[in-house]
Amino acid sequence: MQHIDIKEIMEKPEYLHQNVTVCGWVRTSRNSKTMAFLALNDGTCLPHLQIVIDKAQGVAYEEAMPVGTSVKVIGEVVEGQNGGVEINAQEISILGKCPSEYPLQKKRHTLEFLRTMPHLRGRTNTFHAVMRVRSVLARAIHQYFQDRNYVYVNTPLITGSDCEGAGEMFQVTTLGYAPEFQSEEEYYAADFFNRKAGLSVSGQLEGEMAAMAMGKIYTFGPSFRAENSNTPKHLAEFWHIEPEVAFMELPEVIALAEDMIKFVIRQVLDTCPNEMKFFDQYVEKGLIARLEELISHEFAVCEYTEAIRLLQESGEKFQYPVEWGCDLQTEHERYISEKVFHKAVFVTNYPKEIKSFYMKQNADGKTVAAVDLLVPGVGEIIGGSEREYDYDKLIAEMNARNMNLALYQDYLDLRKYGSVPHGGFGLGFERLIMYVTGVQNIRDVIFFPRSAGYIR
Ligand code: 4AD
Ligand code: MG
Repeated sequence: MQHIDIKEIMEKPEYLHQNVTVCGWVRTSRNSKTMAFLALNDGTCLPHLQIVIDKAQGVAYEEAMPVGTSVKVIGEVVEGQNGGVEINAQEISILGKCPSEYPLQKKRHTLEFLRTMPHLRGRTNTFHAVMRVRSVLARAIHQYFQDRNYVYVNTPLITGSDCEGAGEMFQVTTLGYAPEFQSEEEYYAADFFNRKAGLSVSGQLEGEMAAMAMGKIYTFGPSFRAENSNTPKHLAEFWHIEPEVAFMELPEVIALAEDMIKFVIRQVLDTCPNEMKFFDQYVEKGLIARLEELISHEFAVCEYTEAIRLLQESGEKFQYPVEWGCDLQTEHERYISEKVFHKAVFVTNYPKEIKSFYMKQNADGKTVAAVDLLVPGVGEIIGGSEREYDYDKLIAEMNARNMNLALYQDYLDLRKYGSVPHGGFGLGFERLIMYVTGVQNIRDVIFFPRSAGYIR
């Protein structure tokens, strides 16, 4: 159907005084004695286009009035009341009627209410703004890496090896377990891949293989976690950006993460002024200033041991007790970034027991060269490390963790054939979007969230 994007009409002066065709959904409508007005949105921009109907001209409009109706409008682009443009309608065709039980009538809805209708909530201003920012952030991430000689790599979603080893893998199978199998091995051997398979929790292990070939790579795809944690920041299916870089040691991993985060936030501020103003007004007051502040200062860096000391000396009552060796909980992460540093903080050199097997072991024998980026309001958005590239040390660590080395032969080969120092990180895309938009629940920054006990 030939028509012009509403965004083009709103932003390009060449359409003024032209006759155009636009299509969209009626967001609001109002009626006076001589005139009627439709606010039309086609998804190309946040503001609605006003359609003006002069009743004296005999344009049929009544059927277009119900909120949610989809229409095609032909008319002239004219100057509107407050600087923008509007359309004087000459002809309105109804594409799809929308009855009054349509749940998104004009009043503002809570995000909780909208969560009950993932198929419709995309039609609200909030979701338009979130999804536009999400899309722009994705482009910015690709641009950041591609402009710096990184190769975009797609790693498998179905995998035979567990990257993080936290027991959070979804199993992939075509076969129900049946009593005729004598053992687990027999059952897995009969299954589709002839061995146990699962949905990948991270593309890192394959990312490392690619980095040992291409030097600088990044992945951008879904990861899956069967974490039974019903929190506002965990999804069972989330999007994951994982750069992996040969010859990169921890300080450079940190510098890369900081530079990338600043770049993509700058892009969003420049590309999405309407959306960011919307969030600043309705979601988090002062959001734009907070982000401007973030990207104009250096992020803090703090060792894990120091973070523990700061938490212990804070006098704060935490739900989870703090002692050296404990994993940092969201409450601790937020305290450190919000109350101690008042900005983004890299926490480094965690105890090896609470981190993954592949992290580079530090000389102290107790810690690994890990880094998490903690931000105010969200907590951890990035987890990364330098990798253990010494074959013997890696094997010893895997043995100490009772890992099945047979499942990691390809990964171990990397340490045999031209091993180099390398590192990388994983950025949770939805966590980044939460931080950039101020939206508090991760289920509201992805169109169709999947989390424990929730799928449709
Ligand atoms: O800290 P994580 O578990 O690290 C890894 O997976 C490494 N393999 C990354 C790497 O070094 N290449 O996860 C990385 C990030 C977290 O910081 C978080 O932002 C996000 O992924 N994440 C989740 N996001 C939403 N829902 C979940 N259940 C998530 N689990 C991790
Ligand atoms: Mg982590």
